[in-house]
Amino acid sequence: MRYGEGLLEEIRRRTDLVALVGRRVKLVRKGRVMWGCCPFHQEKSPSFKVENERRLYKCFGCGKGGDAFKWLIETEGLSFPESVEKLAAEVGVELPKWSPEDEAREQKRKSLYDIVELAAKFYEEQLFDAGGREARDYLKGRGLDGAAAKQFRLGYSPSGNGALIKHLTEHNVTQDDIIAAGLARPAEDGRPMRDFFYNRVMFPIGDGRGRIVAFGARALEADAKPKYINTGETALFSKGTQLYNFATARAAAIKAGTVIVAEGYMDVIALVRAGFAHSVAPLGTALTEDQLHLLWRTAPEPILAFDGDAAGLKAAHRAAHLALPHLKAGYSLRFAFLPGGEDPDSFIAGSGPGAMTVLLEAALPLSQLLWRTETEGKDLSTPERRAGLEHNLKEIVDRITDSKIADYYRRGFEQLVFESFKRRSAPADRDGTRYPGRSSTARTSKPGGKFRGDFKPRPLPGSPEAVSASVQSSALVRSGQAGARHAKEMELGRLLVESPEIALAQGESLAVLDLTDPSLDRLRHELLNLAASGSSLEKAGVQTHFTRKGMADLLVRFAGSAVEDPQASFQRAVADLRELTGHQTDARRLLERRKALSQRPGDGRGQ
Ligand code: CTP
Ligand code: MN
Repeated sequence: MRYGEGLLEEIRRRTDLVALVGRRVKLVRKGRVMWGCCPFHQEKSPSFKVENERRLYKCFGCGKGGDAFKWLIETEGLSFPESVEKLAAEVGVELPKWSPEDEAREQKRKSLYDIVELAAKFYEEQLFDAGGREARDYLKGRGLDGAAAKQFRLGYSPSGNGALIKHLTEHNVTQDDIIAAGLARPAEDGRPMRDFFYNRVMFPIGDGRGRIVAFGARALEADAKPKYINTGETALFSKGTQLYNFATARAAAIKAGTVIVAEGYMDVIALVRAGFAHSVAPLGTALTEDQLHLLWRTAPEPILAFDGDAAGLKAAHRAAHLALPHLKAGYSLRFAFLPGGEDPDSFIAGSGPGAMTVLLEAALPLSQLLWRTETEGKDLSTPERRAGLEHNLKEIVDRITDSKIADYYRRGFEQLVFESFKRRSAPADRDGTRYPGRSSTARTSKPGGKFRGDFKPRPLPGSPEAVSASVQSSALVRSGQAGARHAKEMELGRLLVESPEIALAQGESLAVLDLTDPSLDRLRHELLNLAASGSSLEKAGVQTHFTRKGMADLLVRFAGSAVEDPQASFQRAVADLRELTGHQTDARRLLERRKALSQRPGDGRGQ
């Protein structure tokens, strides 16, 4: 740590936290404490307090809190050292000087920044120059106009020999520095020093502060190899510790509450242009631990939206296992699945931003992804295979270092295995079954003993895994059904949080709804309990109740704004959801029936 606690305390002491927070939040004094509406979640009555005396802020609704540094980290997306530098400057605390070596290194880095920036400008100019015609056409062909190019500072590295070297030399940059900046290859085997990038579309890569430190570069020809090349490791750039578009995405991620991780530069650009400013990508390598921590600094549950091909699935699986040892309370990953062969770029171009939203909202939590990859499409019909599954699940749990989380995973998996195998011979179609053992559609189970070959573990109805099941069926995802259902459930949740009295007036229809979202299920359960116990269900009281019971996460998840006629909106949403559920059940039934027919030779078609 570069700054001692004494120094940090001095900065905290001199900082007027109330004034600092007051720049963003309207605060009202009550005694020694200032109160306001929490900026981290939606609320109408203040549960967010700021105390200069204790130098802390804290929200009783969503639990966010901390000191002045934390405030800047959370609201401005700064890193810790950046927050220290900013506050120190504001309150006039001088930060310790570095050693002369530090100073020299910093000086060197500074000049490298300038050089890379010079190069970025050069490439930008080249794109709009006569020689950049082909590159401009290429970008146009991929749906990117001049405005898009400007927004991402796209450029073109000309094919002429040594064009950038010439340009930089004219600006008095030494050959050593050009090489140190990763912009040229040194002279070797009798060949002179030459440009690292030529005849490529240039994607400048910024650091956490948005300073250009490196480039990704794409060939113009469809079949060129390699398709992309990237700046190698330099004093400014290390591909495993930085992310494409991070500086801009960081601020947007704090607002959006999440961050999207795609695989490629073009994906990020398409996402940002479709309104998902909170999008980043790794830099030509698989996601690293450093990048994971970077992501977690911006949002608790980054969503990985990897390509819908085998490589993308593998990358998602790899990232899932990478995260296990680093899981901590509140921090995880989610996984959005693109249809086969699509990446976010092509998907947005073909299906639009709305479809992308649906896909992102249906993203699977890490725990479900792991269960799914261990069970989906696998025949687990023998005792040995079941034991194999349990062995694999245990290996997953063993990789989790946080004992509490490990414990939840272990219990969750045990439950899933137990329920799946218990239901082994039960009919597969149980979409209509909300509670085990009740109203299960009568259907004759197939003849045969316990471990028949056609068994695959199935999620519990109403369990989180049932959500995954509804999302898994790619036919459903493609038709948007699962996403539409999810969106409808989110709407219901928002209505209930905003106007909890609905649970009193329409308890009957609420109670029998078929819900897939476990949070919404919890919300319903709690509201119906409150209604049954004769509580008033007035909004403020209900919110306090949820907060006291440690369920503020539900309020945050379903935070929304008031609607004119909540009761009517609720009835409409319920009707919509019923219809969607009906469709889905029909679709599933049809699939099951087809499968059943094809599995009974001589008993199927033609009879
Ligand atoms: N990549 C790379 N080197 C390659 C191929 C890919 O560094 N030879 C990196 C790039 O950062 C690229 C990302 O991996 O953005 C994803 O690669 P891929 O999915 O193959 O390409 P797309 O981003 O889809 O590129 P495009 O749409 O331009 O074909
Ligand atoms: Mn692509």
